[in-house]
Order: sequence, then C-alpha cells, then structure tokens
Amino acid sequence: YSSEQQNIIQAYEWSTKLFHHVLRHTSDGKDGLNYLKNRGFELETIEHFQLGYSPQKDQFLSSFLKGKGFELDSLTEYGLLTKRDGNSYHDRFIGRIIFPIKNHQGKVVAFGGRSTQPEMEPKYLNSPESQLFQKGQILYNFHDARKHVQKNNREIVLFEGNLDVIKAYQAGVKNAVATLGTSFSEYQAAILNRYADHVIICFDGDKAGKNASYKTAKILKKAGLQVRIANIPNEMDPDDYIDAYGAEKFKKQIIQAAESFVSFYLNHLKKQYNLSLDHERVTYIEKALDIIAQVENSVERDFYLKELEDSFDLYRDTLEKEIEKRRRIKE
Ligand code: UTP
Ligand code: MN
Ligand code: MN
Ligand code: MN
Ligand code: MN
Repeated sequence: YSSEQQNIIQAYEWSTKLFHHVLRHTSDGKDGLNYLKNRGFELETIEHFQLGYSPQKDQFLSSFLKGKGFELDSLTEYGLLTKRDGNSYHDRFIGRIIFPIKNHQGKVVAFGGRSTQPEMEPKYLNSPESQLFQKGQILYNFHDARKHVQKNNREIVLFEGNLDVIKAYQAGVKNAVATLGTSFSEYQAAILNRYADHVIICFDGDKAGKNASYKTAKILKKAGLQVRIANIPNEMDPDDYIDAYGAEKFKKQIIQAAESFVSFYLNHLKKQYNLSLDHERVTYIEKALDIIAQVENSVERDFYLKELEDSFDLYRDTLEKEIEKRRRIKE
C-alpha cells in the first residue's frame, strides 16, 4: 500500500469503530439498532460483522477524523466524506446502517450504507470505486468465509447482498460471500477458484436474480468450478426465506437441495420456448440434447434423458442415438 492508502485504511478503521460504537452504545444509534433488530439480526451477529450506524449529524465523522489529524481531501476522494461549496466537509452516510467491506487481506476499504427509511434514496449508498476498492475484484466477506471452505467440502455459497450473507452466517452458513449486486466477473471467479471447488449460487429468487444466476454460473464453469444453483421460491431473497422458514429449512431445502447446473440450464432454456408448438418443442429438445451430451458422467446423462423421455413422451432409443451422435462429433 502507498502511504496515502495506508492512511485511508486507518481512517476506515477508525470510522468502522466509531460507527459501530454509535450503533451499539449510544442513543444516536437507536434507529439503526432497531432497524437491524426488526430485521432479525442478533447482537452477536452485529458484533461479528462490525455493523455500524452513521448518526443524523452532518459533521459527526468529519469532525472526528479531523480531530485525529486526517487530511480530509483524500478521505473525500475515497468516499468517507463529501465536500460542499469547495471547502466544507460533510458526512456521506448520514442516517444509514454501515456495512464495513473488507478486502481479501481483511482491511476495511469501503462502506456499504443502507437507508433505514423507505423514502431515503438510494437504498444503498456505497463508497465509490478507488485504488483500494474495485467492486469487480472484491467479494464481500471473502476474508472470513475462506476459513470455512475447507470443512464444507471446499464449497462456497455466493449471494447477491451483504444482508443475505449476514443472515446466512447467523443461520450457520459461514462459507458465504456476496457479489454486492448482480454482476460477477471472471476475476472474482478466479479468486473463488483458488480456495474452493464447488460454488452454490444463492441469488435472489426474482427474475433479475435468476438471470444473473445463469450468467454467473457460466463464468464460474469457465473458470473450472463446479456449480449448483439454489432455488428460492416466491421471489424471496435468502434473507426473507430464513426469516420466514428458519435456519434448518434454509440449509436443507435451499442449500443442500441446490440443483445441478444442467437442470437449472434446461429449465432456464425451457422457458424460452412455446412448447405447445411442434417446431419450438423440437428446437428445445435438440438444444437440451446438446447440453446433455456434454455431461461426462453417464449416470447423470441417463437421469436427464429420462426426464426428456417422460416429459415429451419420446422413444428412449431415439434419444440415445442422438446423444451418441453428438458425443462422437465431440471426439
Ligand atoms: P438488493 O436490492 O437485492 O438488496 O441488492 P438486498 O441485499 O436484498 O437488501 P435489502 O434486503 O433490500 O435491504 C443486492 C446488493 O446490491 C447492492 C448492495 O450491495 C446489495 O446488498 N446494491 C443494491 C447497491 O450497491 N446499490 C443499490 O442501490 C442496490
Ligand atoms: Mn462491539
Ligand atoms: Mn436483488
Ligand atoms: Mn433483501
Ligand atoms: Mn436482495
């Protein structure tokens, strides 16, 4: 780290402690603490993730950091403060829950700030990208999740949101990281690949989450990871699901029951065709065969073929011939 960067890291460290203290021990932090309690977060969890609250005061952090001797211009550049009228420094995250975002060495290099009122926009305000924080190169909670990968069969669970990771942790799923949105990069896949063999994608159950699951799975597969995809019903987020059904059900019905990439892919593909039309049905079956032919495990191939056979009332012989044809071409 450059000396400026070391300085910024120190400022983030102080700010993390200050906001956490406000949340835990002051009346200024009550709104924040109530918000988190209402959403089912326990004190122990709040401690573990060092969550904080930026109080409803315009120059709370800025005067604190000024008192510590920090140079406020560079703090502004790295997203801790904002500058108004060219010379006065103000807090950036006023009235927001603070999620410290650590880099992979465990240093806090950014904040995510969630509004505590529906009318407060945007819902999340994050530190801007900087030399220290590039969204496409960081996975939220990776530094801690890494320690739990080995004992979970070298498996890691990938979420969209930081709150999903935190709620999953509280439910006992500690090998959890988040992309902080729906975009996922090859760089992030390479990071995961260094520590894990399997990734379970556990994105939000809405349409955006489903589409992102597909794109993310492709990137992970390309990096050489084995991928399964969790299916959360009723457009729920993992966080909502845990609140509604509890930790055990989340682990059994969502994480352990995550479906194979091929199943997910076939279902995803199916939705793109009108299967009541003959020619579209044929196109789907042919594309499905293309995918199934690429599965190396013959038992697994058999399993998918059986599904095709039953769903479309086809002859098993025909399907097997088509698979053989495709596999020969591959060789
Ligand atoms: P979501 O909109 O799914 O938020 O965005 P969430 O995690 O479910 O949060 P709650 O439950 O509504 O409080 C997923 C992630 O995308 C990033 C955040 O990191 C969030 O956790 N995001 C979302 C932003 O950075 N900015 C936004 O405006 C929205
Ligand atoms: Mn504490
Ligand atoms: Mn979402
Ligand atoms: Mn949510
Ligand atoms: Mn969400």
